[in-house]
Amino acid sequence: ALAIWHQLTRSEIPELSKASVLMRDRSRVETTIQAMHRAGPDALQVISDFDMTLSRFAHNGKRCPTTHNILDNGLLINDACKRRIRELLNIYYPVEIDAARTVEEKLPHMVEWWTSVHELLIQQKIRKDLLALAVEQSSAMLREGYKVFFDHLREQQVPLLIFSAGLGDILEEVIRQNHVFHPNIHVISNYMDFDQKGELQAFKGQLIHTFNKRDGALLHEAHFSKLKERPNVLLLGDSLGDLTMADGLAHTQHTLTIGYLNDQVEERKESYVNSYDIVLVKDETMDVPNAVLNYVT
Ligand code: C5P
Ligand code: MG
Repeated sequence: ALAIWHQLTRSEIPELSKASVLMRDRSRVETTIQAMHRAGPDALQVISDFDMTLSRFAHNGKRCPTTHNILDNGLLINDACKRRIRELLNIYYPVEIDAARTVEEKLPHMVEWWTSVHELLIQQKIRKDLLALAVEQSSAMLREGYKVFFDHLREQQVPLLIFSAGLGDILEEVIRQNHVFHPNIHVISNYMDFDQKGELQAFKGQLIHTFNKRDGALLHEAHFSKLKERPNVLLLGDSLGDLTMADGLAHTQHTLTIGYLNDQVEERKESYVNSYDIVLVKDETMDVPNAVLNYVT
């Protein structure tokens, strides 16, 4: 039986043998993929994080921006605000990815980070009509192979939920400018609330940060219950917090999780391998998700 399983990895999905791929339990991955393949596209839904999962972490050795960092542009905010947002990033990002702290320890810091930055953005009265230009001028990029990923899901009519603790207005603009904002996409994220003058006055709904996606998922129960006929889930993320994105689903049959390990690789490798079915180490492509989808649907 083992020989047959390894057949899948070697011949049907050779991408799983890429040097960037780590798996705790190869047999589990293979049986899950086989089961998803038998159930086909009608039984599948995809749930993905956005920042540093669908978007690139780095390009030619330079960091790419998150949706929040795309606003770090003179068009939208003044220099003092830019400096403050960078200071906050330098304080809180290391906490977010710290392998030595528990999620419970990180929670209050994440709330502080998001709340402070959102207050700063509101003070700057960010203009809605300049968001598209800020995205154009940014160095944000989707991962290599993104077009195959988005187009394939649309063709197979597989719903894609993009579940992001970033900024919804900005991520929509990024995928729109890349011509892949298809009708099978639903977004759960932090959306901006603009006044009649088109200036940012608040954020809508409950704040989503890296480690409360479970709460967000439960709040959007209506979305998940519409998809209850699709018990198989492919989940993509880059933070351990992303693993709770499917918690709004009452019944799942087969779930395959793929985690991008972009940063602090040695420190976090063990916990990622223990938590995600497939870990992609410093892999800036969609090759593995695309190969899995191509086999499954
Ligand atoms: O889409 P995703 O859920 O990944 O978005 C959250 C990411 O945005 C976090 O991983 C965090 O590092 C980043 N972030 C940021 N600036 C903030 C808040 C979060 O770059 N002010
Ligand atoms: Mg992310």
